[in-house]
Amino acid sequence: MDVTMIYFSQTGNTRKVAETMATAFQEAGHSARTVPLKEATADDVTKSDLLGVGTSCMTSQAPTPIKEFLHNLPPLEGRRTFVFATSGGASGRVLYDLTHLLRGKGADVAGGVLIRGEVHHPAPCLLGHFRGRPNAEDLNRARRFATAVAEPISAVRSSPLAESRPEAIKPRWGFYDLVASLSSDRLQRVLLPEPKLDPDRCDLCEWCVNECPMDNITMQPHPILGGKCIRCYRCLTGCPQKAFNVNWRFSNLAILSLYNTSFVRWFGDVEPGEQVY
Ligand SMILES: Cc1cc2nc3c(=O)[nH]c(=O)nc-3n(C[C@H](O)[C@H](O)[C@H](O)COP(=O)(O)O)c2cc1C
Ligand code: SF4
Ligand code: SF4
Repeated sequence: MDVTMIYFSQTGNTRKVAETMATAFQEAGHSARTVPLKEATADDVTKSDLLGVGTSCMTSQAPTPIKEFLHNLPPLEGRRTFVFATSGGASGRVLYDLTHLLRGKGADVAGGVLIRGEVHHPAPCLLGHFRGRPNAEDLNRARRFATAVAEPISAVRSSPLAESRPEAIKPRWGFYDLVASLSSDRLQRVLLPEPKLDPDRCDLCEWCVNECPMDNITMQPHPILGGKCIRCYRCLTGCPQKAFNVNWRFSNLAILSLYNTSFVRWFGDVEPGEQVY
């Protein structure tokens, strides 16, 4: 079986999960490859026997770049697929977003796994949550899921797909699912601050232009942000010169009111005993 996994990953957590699953598929005797979203084409999707689609979670949902990619795919009638995501504690609708779009194309979604990932959001109230994740146990979970997905489709499973989350298959109506439904890129642009450039620090390397998942940055001659920003803050957290900055004074409060440690524990996907900090 040829397995292809297409993933959206900014700080490498989801990429690690995809690569771990690829190894598990290979150990089970299949060929498996991982393709970052920016390099993925419709051919990657249509030429595989089993397709995995993965993403990091943003605002309790799948971010626009991966949703747009799935939306623009050709029909996937009856194709075997699975989904995966990494999240920082409030995953909301992220898995079901992927499932919904794949099903809309006619694909059969076997299940989905959710793995913890360290939060690199620059807001002071979030930065550094779940440090060091995904850890070895998280990656073992991803491995168990991949091994279960790789079982022949005709095999009768005596139990549900190992490590698959119920909300990957059936929508759920919890607090963070609601937050995701009420949120949009436009609202993010209103509520959250835009990264601001300090031109004296910028050495015009163009890293941010290439890395922005919305192709929203152009050099004129310094980087200028356009109107499509999804407030992923990748340009800010990744710039080698630390040339972008943001004033968090008010927005940190806005984020804290929805993504504070208590809410994430009560309504998120934090497991008993799991350390947030
Ligand atoms: C801008 C931004 C928004 C995020 N929003 C959420 C969120 O709403 N819920 C959540 O559980 N994690 C959230 N996270 C945490 C990421 O989903 C998590 O760190 C993920 O593992 C990152 O994956 P990556 O390294 O593959 O990009 C957010 C991270 C960033 C940078
Ligand atoms: S990544 Fe930083 S240094 Fe490079 S062009 Fe962008 S802002 Fe300038
Ligand atoms: S401009 Fe920066 S914050 Fe906005 S989408 Fe691009 S990388 Fe993300």
